[in-house]
Amino acid sequence: MTAHLKQDEPDTRNLLDDMVQGIIGKPLARPDGLGKVTGTAPYAAEYPIANCLEGVLVTAPFTKGTITGVHKDSVLSMPGVVAVIDDQRLTARAAQGGAGEAPAQPARKVGYFGQPIALVVAESFEQARDAAKHLTFEYRAENVADVPLDPEKTDAEPQDGATRQGDLAQAMSQAAHSVDVTYTTEGHSSAAMEPHAAIAQWDGNSLTVHASLQMPNYNISELADALDLGEDQVRLIARYVGGGFGSKLGISEEAVAASIAAMELERPVRVVLSRQQVFQTIMRRSETSQRFRLAADENGRLTGFGHEARVSQLPGESFAEPVLQSSEFLYGGENRLLQLEVARIHRMTAGSVRAPGEAVGMPALESAMDMLAEEVGIDPVELRLRNIPECHPVNGLPYSSRKLAECLEQGAEAFGWDHGPRKPRQRREGEWWIGTGMASAARVHNVAEARARVTLKPDGTALVETDMTDIGTGTYSIVGQVAGEMLGLPMDRVLVDLGDTDSPRGPGSGGSWGASSICSAVFVACEDMRATLAKKAGVSVEELKLKDGGVIGGASLVELLDGEELSVEGHYEPGAVEDDFTASGYGAFFAEVRVNRFTGETRVDRMLGAYGFGRVLNAKTARSQCLGGIVWSIGAALTEALLFDPVDGHIANCDLAEYHVPVNRDVPDLEVIMVEERDPAASPIQAKGVGELGMCGGAAAIGNAIYNACGARVLGFPMTPDRVIAAMPE
Ligand code: MOS
Repeated sequence: MTAHLKQDEPDTRNLLDDMVQGIIGKPLARPDGLGKVTGTAPYAAEYPIANCLEGVLVTAPFTKGTITGVHKDSVLSMPGVVAVIDDQRLTARAAQGGAGEAPAQPARKVGYFGQPIALVVAESFEQARDAAKHLTFEYRAENVADVPLDPEKTDAEPQDGATRQGDLAQAMSQAAHSVDVTYTTEGHSSAAMEPHAAIAQWDGNSLTVHASLQMPNYNISELADALDLGEDQVRLIARYVGGGFGSKLGISEEAVAASIAAMELERPVRVVLSRQQVFQTIMRRSETSQRFRLAADENGRLTGFGHEARVSQLPGESFAEPVLQSSEFLYGGENRLLQLEVARIHRMTAGSVRAPGEAVGMPALESAMDMLAEEVGIDPVELRLRNIPECHPVNGLPYSSRKLAECLEQGAEAFGWDHGPRKPRQRREGEWWIGTGMASAARVHNVAEARARVTLKPDGTALVETDMTDIGTGTYSIVGQVAGEMLGLPMDRVLVDLGDTDSPRGPGSGGSWGASSICSAVFVACEDMRATLAKKAGVSVEELKLKDGGVIGGASLVELLDGEELSVEGHYEPGAVEDDFTASGYGAFFAEVRVNRFTGETRVDRMLGAYGFGRVLNAKTARSQCLGGIVWSIGAALTEALLFDPVDGHIANCDLAEYHVPVNRDVPDLEVIMVEERDPAASPIQAKGVGELGMCGGAAAIGNAIYNACGARVLGFPMTPDRVIAAMPE
């Protein structure tokens, strides 16, 4: 049985609020938590598979050129070596995020340092790694000096979809107050804890791959395409995923390579990328430079809004970091110019890294807004409040539910924000200047088609099956909570089975659409089941109060089911409601930092994020997403940047020792406020995305606090000590 919902209208019933089990939204512990912390939850590389070979990728040690020959014989006689595979499909990695896109790099051409060339397969990992080091090959490499590597020093193509409204130049010239500033951001790595890994098994007709993936629902077509198989010949399993942050959205090299080898050698093959390979071979976040022209009247009301951005990308790839996304709708200003252009450079593919677009667009925008507040001479919180538009400033669409003002106000209150006049260098403790800063948060809300099968067993327990993943976000928890709430079951009577493409197709984990999309599919199935159960109980569905495994004061589910099982596949599809509203999550960040007056070092003393993202499905996992977002903000503000060697184009800091993500010592006490909200236009369960929202703008709160502390207006992220010192006034 299938229950289908295409959401064309807001669902203002807010049905989950009428349920009585009382678990939705509660900070329940993760059912998968114990397995993870005790090491018994198997990640992709950890499945004990008999007779498994080990594969190690060999990657290009140059930036641009052509591979003309691989000397397989150079290693085939080494101990344990079984094969060297230099199949051109090793480079057949679909462009990020898109299903079934053709490989961007023609066979044997190398377009970036670290591009896969071959896979060496051996009986043991050590043997494969040793042989991979000794594999020789012939190539012609171009002189790196002749290869475009710097996005600022190459031509750029304007992208379609620019916004032009009114006359920005005129608005700027007539403005009472204005800001014209350009911010830059550097490349980022997703740096997920679990390296990319896959084990492929081929039985002569069908392929089973244990892999670390965000989107098995798409990855199955990508892999089938790459290998020229039918989708019905492929099964992907990704039950536990140690973080993805975009880097596991598309099928990547290790899964393709393991599959090719398994099919060719007719034995299972495991391929795990080294940390360095994850950095060099898997996508990066684009470098950006972003010019803002903000024009305002005497009261700080925006009259002009310009955001012109250059983002970088490998030639032939279609993804362009969508840094304008929030600028489209966050603030008013009738004269608008928003334009994106792409500069082609030979660094590895740029793709989705945690909150593609807003993660770097919002910090730049919110830094420029801080400068405008200073120009106008008003409180930066007040500047934001004054510029919240009535409706979308260009297409006039209404906003769905929007808690930006509440986040700004509640966040300021909880932080103890001083709304008085602001001037840098008002507080000093010894060598340290101390200051505060704030920024808005925004991240568009997305939903995606999703299916999930919910089965009530005759014993009164429920099973939810979908190929949706839990990439550390809490999917196991929230899927169980929605089913339990709707069917009146405590969590320990709901079994959630995720990450297997033999199950109905979920939405995958990406773009922060996972929670609201998959839970909507579960909701749709359960609503249908409730109608059946009501009939069995002889009451109307409105009267059906289910709790702890039965009708309150009536029959138990076991009695109602009477030996039969009840199974419904919920199918949720985004509908017209998507086109009728501007839907986004919102928030506000507040930070207090100290900046060393001699070294330019910045320490974050405290930080707060207030967020509105619709219904909270699990207060613990949602808060954890927000905390993670603030931690990412600290990294984006102060340390994270991929550094490319100009001599040969390799990444100089391709490990977690040199690519600095914040560690415990860098992260102070963090506070998270989740503003009560239901967004009936966002999804049938009134929830929006939260994961990426957590960081969209946060780096600006820190940058603005640096300025307030010491007077250094740093125009590039990350704001490393050298940059802070260079911008420090006398
Ligand atoms: Mo996200 S960067 O779509 O995993």
